[in-house]
Amino acid sequence: MSKVDDFRLRLGDKEYIPIMQGGMGVDISSSELALAVCKEGGIGHISDAMAPYVSDRKFNTKIQNSKQKQFKEFANSLDKSKVKWDYERSYEGTFKHVDSTMKEKSGDGAIYVNTMEKLTMGNPEETLRARMIAQMDAGVDGITLSAGLHKGSLSLIADQPRFNDVKLGIIVSSVRALKIFLRSGKKVNRAPDYVIVEGPLAGGHLGFGPDDWHKYDLKTIVEEVITFLKDQELDIPVIPAGGVFTGTDAANYLEMGVGAVQVATRFTIADECGLPAPVKQIYAQAEEEEIEVNLSSPTGYPMRMLKSSPSLSSNIRPNCEALGYLLDRNGNCAYHQAWDNAGVDEKGRKLPIREKMCICYHFMKYNTYTCGHNVYRLKDTTLTKPDGSFFIPSAAHIFNDYRFSVDHEIALPSAADVESAENAKALVKIGTNGNGGRKGAKADSSEEADSKKSDSGETAAA
Ligand SMILES: Cc1cc2nc3c(=O)[nH]c(=O)nc-3n(C[C@H](O)[C@H](O)[C@H](O)COP(=O)(O)O)c2cc1C
Repeated sequence: MSKVDDFRLRLGDKEYIPIMQGGMGVDISSSELALAVCKEGGIGHISDAMAPYVSDRKFNTKIQNSKQKQFKEFANSLDKSKVKWDYERSYEGTFKHVDSTMKEKSGDGAIYVNTMEKLTMGNPEETLRARMIAQMDAGVDGITLSAGLHKGSLSLIADQPRFNDVKLGIIVSSVRALKIFLRSGKKVNRAPDYVIVEGPLAGGHLGFGPDDWHKYDLKTIVEEVITFLKDQELDIPVIPAGGVFTGTDAANYLEMGVGAVQVATRFTIADECGLPAPVKQIYAQAEEEEIEVNLSSPTGYPMRMLKSSPSLSSNIRPNCEALGYLLDRNGNCAYHQAWDNAGVDEKGRKLPIREKMCICYHFMKYNTYTCGHNVYRLKDTTLTKPDGSFFIPSAAHIFNDYRFSVDHEIALPSAADVESAENAKALVKIGTNGNGGRKGAKADSSEEADSKKSDSGETAAA
């Protein structure tokens, strides 16, 4: 019986343990998580979603704040056509986030950035170009293009010195999407270095229709992609993602001839994961019937999440002056209409809006509990503490369980793991406020409190 460690992913002149930890925005796949995976010899993704916000929080920059000031006159209007992110701000936030991560890099793995096309920021091409250039300038090892077909993305950076040296990959959910990307690459003479095939059990946005996502299965799409690439005589590693929960799931794919697997949900309860501690407990406790795929994301893509996500009962006022990461080039976002149409209570306050969410605000606050279908199995991957809460394992433990396990067994953390983690936590508490300086480290939306703040995009319950 084979295990993941029997295989290696070869990209250029480098070899990796064939486990990619997938990008999870906003900063759920934190620098610490990606660095831990890299240290173990795998590929860790950070995400460039809302990087200016991440930079403001981590480095005390005032990027969102300065944008909010610039556009404050549009706060009371739903016409956001003039509210746009620009090259400089997008570059600055992304560069700071990626640069600080790369400076901490150790081990034989790599750090990639998940780069979403749907993050249109009122100014799609300029901001995407700025983000990708910032990533390369900051020395990132690879860029994974996601949430979109990326027909024009490669031409935006074809003139950059690192265009042929940085590893470039794309996430697709069909051969059709891959064909479109390969055609666009031909125009600039650049084939992808790897192709991630994401199936319907993944977390985050799904690359399928709202009504038909459940009709697809990952293994079939992976086989189709492998056959297509063989027919085209293209030797590009294929990397399945979505529902790979045990080392044996991964090894079975590796035996089919894939280059690596991409996984994420197992890492949502890792100590290094960016989710606040109470939210990690919510993920660890989840039951299968608490999961749904809905259309509340204004991107139009279906998204899987826990039904208890606070974003599903929110009435937050759009605050695109500071945020606005999802505005299209004309200043539209699908949440605007939903908010405008929402009914009011007897005091004139907006009623909760279920059909759409303000994704910027709620991802900033970790109020959307997006997850892969297997989230309900997380409880089987760790220990319960005497107080009933779940022990939070290290990313290295999860990584090495994927790497070495056989027979679908999942190695639980050992008593020694628990003891050393508890000791480390006690030491951390002496020097800090105990939440690692993370803002928004709470499980509820607390919109009332947030409505009193006036900057950094944290305003505005209706
Ligand atoms: C909490 C969470 C957030 C995610 N966010 C993103 C994202 O921002 N961009 C993206 O391309 N994929 C995102 N994903 C998808 C993962 O990168 C990955 O491909 C997928 O979830 C793998 O399946 P698994 O979770 O079953 O292991 C997210 C997944 C999770 C669980």
